[in-house]
Amino acid sequence: MNVKKLTETTHALLADNKGLFAMDESISTCNKRFADAGIAQTEENRRRYRELIIKTSGLNESISGVILYHETIRQSDESGIPFIKIITDAGIIPGIKVDIGTEDLAGFPDEKITEGLDGLRYRLKEYARMGARFSKWRAVMFIGQGIPSRNCIISNANALARYAALCQECGLVPIVEPEVMMLGGHSSKMCYTITKEVINTVFDELYLQNIALEGIILKPNMILPGLDSGEKKSAEKIAEDTIKCLMECVPAAVPGIAFLSGGQSPQEASIRLNAMKQNPASNLPWKLTFSFGRALQETALMSWKGDDANMVNAQQDIYHRAKCNRAANMGLYND
Ligand code: 13P
Repeated sequence: MNVKKLTETTHALLADNKGLFAMDESISTCNKRFADAGIAQTEENRRRYRELIIKTSGLNESISGVILYHETIRQSDESGIPFIKIITDAGIIPGIKVDIGTEDLAGFPDEKITEGLDGLRYRLKEYARMGARFSKWRAVMFIGQGIPSRNCIISNANALARYAALCQECGLVPIVEPEVMMLGGHSSKMCYTITKEVINTVFDELYLQNIALEGIILKPNMILPGLDSGEKKSAEKIAEDTIKCLMECVPAAVPGIAFLSGGQSPQEASIRLNAMKQNPASNLPWKLTFSFGRALQETALMSWKGDDANMVNAQQDIYHRAKCNRAANMGLYND
């Protein structure tokens, strides 16, 4: 394992208060978002949309890396220039989602396991040859009656660590994403308890599998009340709880933590990240940043609507949200 190469990539991804742009929706997720925005669900539209994102002028002012999907990493712009070249030429680091989605966890109703380990070493080698320098794997855990089970947490943590080991062997920085979902009626306190258990278990497995912690980025959820709980929580309290939880379970050797947005509105995600940077306890051992998908794209997708006439507006929306989140990373967000 070339730890120096891995740490060079983590440092580049975490430099200068920039963050990551997740544009790695699977075909079905991207199609669902297109359906909501009234856009025809075709491969060409998915290609046009991703071209619009990566060609947003000035994106590299706020974004250090973009996360692609296996369809996207092979695509080119309308004049035939590969997306990977456009991204790299803009000074942005290309990354790739390598899990193949979730399946029902056998024997554990309502729980999911993330798939994609079979043949992963060969896919990683191919992605590395294509120019990807980091990758992503997302595990999902739901909070509900008696769930997540211990088995769901351990099985997903084990898969995350096996993925991370293969990535590091192939020279790619693994983004380790254990997402405790916001869906449900649970309290913020429950989210705290479960997130802490999940992250502790993930680090147990990473340790067991000899992962170089300086060569990973953790991508967790913030500590939030369930969407149906009715609980109201200030950005300051979310920031305080999130930092406290992470301080209790993320080793100092980890260079960076990049939050997912998980269904928060674009503004909420920025305000809460901003509050973390303003928190007096924020003399932290790791860098905090964003790795948002929906919170960076939502406004732009609605502006674009699949119509070239709206492209400039959509790109302005992307530029704006990326800039807002870089400002939040400095505690200077003010939409
Ligand atoms: P969201 O920010 O929309 O949660 O997406 C981030 C991501 O990469 C999910 O895997």
